[in-house]
Parts: sequence; C-alpha cells; structure tokens
Amino acid sequence: MELCSVFLPTILLLLLSVLYSAILFFKRSAPPKATESLVLKSYPVIGNLPHFIKNGRRLLEWTTDLIASSPTGTVTVAPIVFTANPTNVEHVARTNFQNYPKGGEILSTFHDFLGRGIFNSNGEEWLLQRKAASFEFNTKSLRAFVLDKVRHETVDRLIPLLKRAGRSGEVLDLQDVLERFAFDNICSLVFGEDPKCLALESEDGERFYHAFHEATELSIERAKQPFSLIWKLSKWLDLESERRLRESMETVHGLVEKYVRSRRKLSREGGGSDFLSRFAADGAHSDEFIRDILISFVLAGRDTTPTALTWFFWILSSKPEVVEKIREEIRVIRSQRRNYDSEVLTLDELREMGYLHAALSESMRIYPPVPLRPCESRREDELPDGTRVRKGWTVMYSTYAMGRAEGIWGQDCGEFRPERWMEDGVFQPASPFRYTVFHAGPRMCLGKDMAYIQMKAVAASILEGFEVEVVENRGKHHLSMTMRMEGGLPVRIKERNIS
Ligand code: HEM
Repeated sequence: MELCSVFLPTILLLLLSVLYSAILFFKRSAPPKATESLVLKSYPVIGNLPHFIKNGRRLLEWTTDLIASSPTGTVTVAPIVFTANPTNVEHVARTNFQNYPKGGEILSTFHDFLGRGIFNSNGEEWLLQRKAASFEFNTKSLRAFVLDKVRHETVDRLIPLLKRAGRSGEVLDLQDVLERFAFDNICSLVFGEDPKCLALESEDGERFYHAFHEATELSIERAKQPFSLIWKLSKWLDLESERRLRESMETVHGLVEKYVRSRRKLSREGGGSDFLSRFAADGAHSDEFIRDILISFVLAGRDTTPTALTWFFWILSSKPEVVEKIREEIRVIRSQRRNYDSEVLTLDELREMGYLHAALSESMRIYPPVPLRPCESRREDELPDGTRVRKGWTVMYSTYAMGRAEGIWGQDCGEFRPERWMEDGVFQPASPFRYTVFHAGPRMCLGKDMAYIQMKAVAASILEGFEVEVVENRGKHHLSMTMRMEGGLPVRIKERNIS
C-alpha cells in the first residue's frame, strides 16, 4: 500500500512528462507556413543534440537539405540558425555587424593555436590588425612581390616537378602538390623565409609544414566536439590528441618566434618586403602578438587556394570543352605579346583572363573552400526573414548551400557553367552577399585579389603545359579548416606539345 502511494504519483508524473514531450515534439515538427523559417523539433532536456550526433558526419549535406526545404532558406536547430538567405547574410555580415562577432566558444577553441591573430579576435584587437593588413595588401609592391614568388615557385619547382612526373608516369597527389606550393608561397610572403616544401629541400621547412598541418587538423577536431568540456578535460589530462596538438604548436610557435626575432634585428638595418619585416619595423607590438598575427596569415594562405584549385582540376577532368576555352584564352593573350616565351603570365595578362576567372569562381561556387561561416549573437535579434535569434545563439551561413540554391543561381544551379559569369566576353562579379565564398562586409577576405592572382597563374601554367588525368575519381570532401578533398587527388601528368 505504502509502495503504491510512492510509485503511483511518480509513474503518473513520468507519463505526463512523456505526453508533454510528445506534444512538443509533434507540434514543432509541423511544417512551417509558406513564409516562415523551418524550426527543427528539439527534444526535452537534450535539445537538438541527437540531430547533431546523427548528422555530424554529413553536416554540409544535412544542413543544405534542411535549408532547401525551408520557405525562407533558413532553419533553426537551436542554438544554431543555419541560413542561405542573402538578406540574412547582409544583416549579420554588414548591417548588424556589431551584434555578430566571432563566438566565445570558437575563440577559446582556437586560442592555443591562433592566439589573438586576425582570425581569432574581435573588436579593437581585430580592427588594429585589419587596418594594418589592409594597408599592406593594397600596396603595389606587395602585389609585385606575390607575383614574383608565384613565378619562382611555378617556373623553378612546379613545372620541373610535373615534367618529371610526366616522364616517369608516376601518380601524383595534386592536392598535396598544391598545398606544398601554397605553403612555400605564403611563408615567403609572410616571413621572407622559403620552407622549400615543394622541392623537399629543407628539414626545418618539412617540420614546419607537418606541424602546421597537424595543429590545424587537431584544432578542428576540438571544434567538432559536441561540448568544449571534452577537449578541455583532454587537455588537462594531456591525452593523446591534446598532447600532439601541444607538441605541434610548440614547433610552430618556436619557428615563428625565431623568424620574428631575427627579422626584428634585420628590420633595424633596413628590412625586406615580406609581411614580418613590415610589422616588425614599427616596434609597437610584442613578439608574441606579431607571432599570432603571422600564424593567421599563414593559415589563410595555406589551405584556401590549394583547396579551391584541387576541386577546380577535379571538375575540369570531366569538362574538356572548358579546358579548351581556357587554353584558347591563354593562346590569344600570348599571341598579343611581342616576344612569345614560355614564362608565367604577367599581372596584366592574368587580369585579362576573364574566362579563367569565371571558371575558378564557378568551381568555388559549387565547392567553396570555406563552406560555413559562424558568428554569435550578442543580443536577441530578428533576422530580415523573420527568424528569431536568441542572445548567445550562433548564426551560421552556409556558402555551400548558397552555391547550390536555385533561388540564387537559377534552375541550372547544379551545373558547372563558367558562362553564367560572363557578359559580352567580360567577367561579371556577383554580390558578396549572394556569393559568400570570400565572406562579406567589414571582415571580408583580405587576400581575395592575391588568391585569384595565385590561382590563375598556377592554373594557366598547368593547363597550358600539361594534360591532367584524374586516376581515381574520389570527389568526397573532408571538413577541416577548409573543405579539402578526402584522400587527395591522384593524377597522372602528360606534357603537352604546345609549339
Ligand atoms: C580561394 C582563396 C580564399 C578564400 C576562398 C578565402 C575565404 C575567406 C573567408 C570565407 C574569410 C572569412 C573567414 C572568417 O571570418 O571566419 C576570409 C578571411 C580572410 N582571408 Fe581569405 N580566402 C582566400 C585566400 C586568402 C589568402 C591567399 C589570403 C592571404 C594571406 C587571405 C587572407 C584573409 C584574411 C587576413 C582574412 C581575415 C579577415 C578579417 O577577419 O578581417 N585569404 N577569407
């Protein structure tokens, strides 16, 4: 009898809470009205965790499907709002920029690696770096310096390497080749030091390359944990992945600090054209802050352009007609020269290559190097499409979903068609709020022009001189700091006869 009086109310309470949960669950799963954003049903107590656990491995595809089924192009999976709606992007990236800084969780996850560098800071600290870097990025001397480094890396390393592979018939991982190219390039630009990774000529350079790669991958692994407590606890216990992260960061920080110290000395005697010399010369910042600034720049240049080019070559392997059009564009530009030689194209010639520019832009539309961009809402807010955002929630726009949205690109959005960017033979840029590949608003990518110069120079050199045959058709992505190709891109190279 006594047992009954204890158990009955408990069971009744349990039944009621299950019933209440079921009502909530089904109420929320009702389809949205024609003008409302989709809100995913969440479970009591555990919220949306099961959705993230179930779909975490296919986050891009899952969120793209959800967004496509929402009338506004926005879906709430609290505490995250995923959107592919250009008016929402404009709202968070520009109009209401102050309310949407980088989130505290993200900053703390990447702090050990990136410190207070431009990618990992907000407010005054970010603004200071942004102003200094914007100035440097806009100097003519920097552009000339970039092209000079690209030319050296292409003519002295990339082309000889491809010729050797062509002769021997060996299979190359093009993604790895492009990543090594980009790392040499960005380190020369940032530190004035050439790690010679493409030529495999420097032990220090190789150590730096691997440590940087490992630190990037392991920091991303931290970010993928459902709760930051997990990596914080692992760090405290010095478990395997955190130990490896600590060791790789020690290598990266040690080498960069060494460069900073030596360049400080040199800058007093005149300095060079690289970023470090320019920052070191003003003497206003600590070595540690300069180290953080530089690491962010290496990260920006190391992953993005090779990822973009890897997908570009993968797409081109099934588009011979596009390859022919690019080759024709190069041939016409070359024919306008007085002296035909096989040197890399000049800055003006690269700028003239509108069709190649369009083909690269089109490839990044479908395979954006940075597919998602999160920010955190400081205050409660309402997005232009009516979606409610609570204080502390993340608003994440999906460049991946936007590139595949019929509402933005039309019914042929799934087709690779560089012509969509051309009008009367001239490249037509898209609004950065619709084409968010380089982000938009005050934090828009600083290296966009530099990235196009590099990508066009490399793509033109390879396509002009070589046939690239994809040996194994992989085409799956792996979400790291950028959307890399899982397992790389194995290719066979054949030298072309262009005389
Ligand atoms: C295809 C190549 C590239 C793509 C698609 C790309 C894309 C992006 C994106 C999406 C952002 C915003 C990231 C965020 O705020 O979380 C960004 C920021 C940035 N990018 Fe790029 N990027 C590329 C190449 C480069 C290169 C070569 C550099 C030069 C080193 C560079 C420098 C930067 C910098 C400094 C920022 C930070 C801007 C800020 O926070 O104010 N990017 N880029």
